[in-house]
Amino acid sequence: MKINVMLVSKQERNLTAMRQLIIDDEIAVVGESEGGATALDKIENISPDIIIMTLSAGDTDVLNLAERVILYRPMIHVVLLTEYMDINILQSAMKIGVHNIIEYPKNAKDFSDYVKSVYHNETARIKALNQKQNLSWMSRVITVFGAKGGLGKTTIACNLAVKLAANNKKVALIDLDLQFGDTHIFLDIDPKDTIAELMNESFAANIDVVRSFMTVHSSGIHVLCAPKSPEYAEMISAEKIHTLISLMRAYYDYVIIDTSPFFNEVTMNAIESSSNVLFVTGLDISILKNSKLSLSLLNSLQQTDKVRLIINRAVEMSSIKISDVQEILGYPIWAKLPSDYKVAVTSLNRGIPFVLSDPNSKIAQSIDSIANILLNGEESVAVGLDKGISHKKRKLFGSKRK
Ligand SMILES: Nc1ncnc2c1ncn2[C@@H]1O[C@H](COP(=O)(O)OP(=O)(O)OP(=O)(O)O)[C@@H](O)[C@H]1O
Ligand SMILES: [Mg+2]
Repeated sequence: MKINVMLVSKQERNLTAMRQLIIDDEIAVVGESEGGATALDKIENISPDIIIMTLSAGDTDVLNLAERVILYRPMIHVVLLTEYMDINILQSAMKIGVHNIIEYPKNAKDFSDYVKSVYHNETARIKALNQKQNLSWMSRVITVFGAKGGLGKTTIACNLAVKLAANNKKVALIDLDLQFGDTHIFLDIDPKDTIAELMNESFAANIDVVRSFMTVHSSGIHVLCAPKSPEYAEMISAEKIHTLISLMRAYYDYVIIDTSPFFNEVTMNAIESSSNVLFVTGLDISILKNSKLSLSLLNSLQQTDKVRLIINRAVEMSSIKISDVQEILGYPIWAKLPSDYKVAVTSLNRGIPFVLSDPNSKIAQSIDSIANILLNGEESVAVGLDKGISHKKRKLFGSKRK
């Protein structure tokens, strides 16, 4: 579904300039007007999602029109474009309740990203207004970790982020698999900037700077992609990650973090800054060995109360049963995802998360359940690591294993 935009300006050259700025597949220009009463008729007939109007100093017509839209058609979002921003223009826009006013953008990509994020933020705000109960202010940082490559961490991180956004949450996804991160492939986005460029910037205490380095996905999630080349990974300091997460936490409802399969300082910092760690494991002996070691490390760092164990590719025929995992790792299983190669790989190859492309599949529904638990608040279910393991299961880790 495209975002339908209507353009309003008295000057034909401004309309042309705006048209040239909107070249995004997800945004459609559905109408144009020079303003005044005819603009109201047009708005009524085409019901755009967003109206973009140009505003010059002293342009009371535009301000009147914007005010009427804001008061009488609050579902339609207003964006004002101005040649240059000064305090008088800002004050007059604020007085009539305009939330979104920017200077003429320098390039089409920035403008499209801006329009998309206005649409998603304003839609979320209006839906929240319609809800009876107050929404929680408390944002959550969720790190998806697993002690081996290929466990399904990125699959879970991307699908979960998209699903939470579909529930009108403001969601950020950070790809902290700094060398080989591939969230942009799972989501089929082409990031202009990544975390590497952001880290070169002094972004302290400014979420707007951080956001300008993120890429907006059509689902509404904001993605801070991994560097474009592995050698940039070492430039990214763990301390800066902590600052970054704190900044994002104040702005987003959910910050989802994808990680590499290794414990490094960056991953540890992310885990320490997280509310929960979705710890992905699987039904094979090598994964379980690594998972056991990683959980011990998390235990020694007092991070285990955050751990929520997820078994991915849970198949009943495996020689290791799901109940065995619980006993071996000493943790209750919090969620499991079925194995579905066809849906998972088709979705990856097409760059469309399966919660969107295949919402009725069992694997998508498992993500829905995880999202629902997070959205509704959940009991703390983690137990300590020191639970006794039976002799039979101990053998799984014994040196005499054949
Ligand atoms: N439940 C599942 N059933 C079948 N295939 C799956 C499932 N989950 C993930 N996959 C597939 O497994 C592969 C690896 O998944 P993914 O990239 O998410 O793992 P990862 O843990 O992020 O790996 P890495 O550590 O290399 O980043 C992908 O091809 C993905 O489509
Ligand atoms: Mg991955």
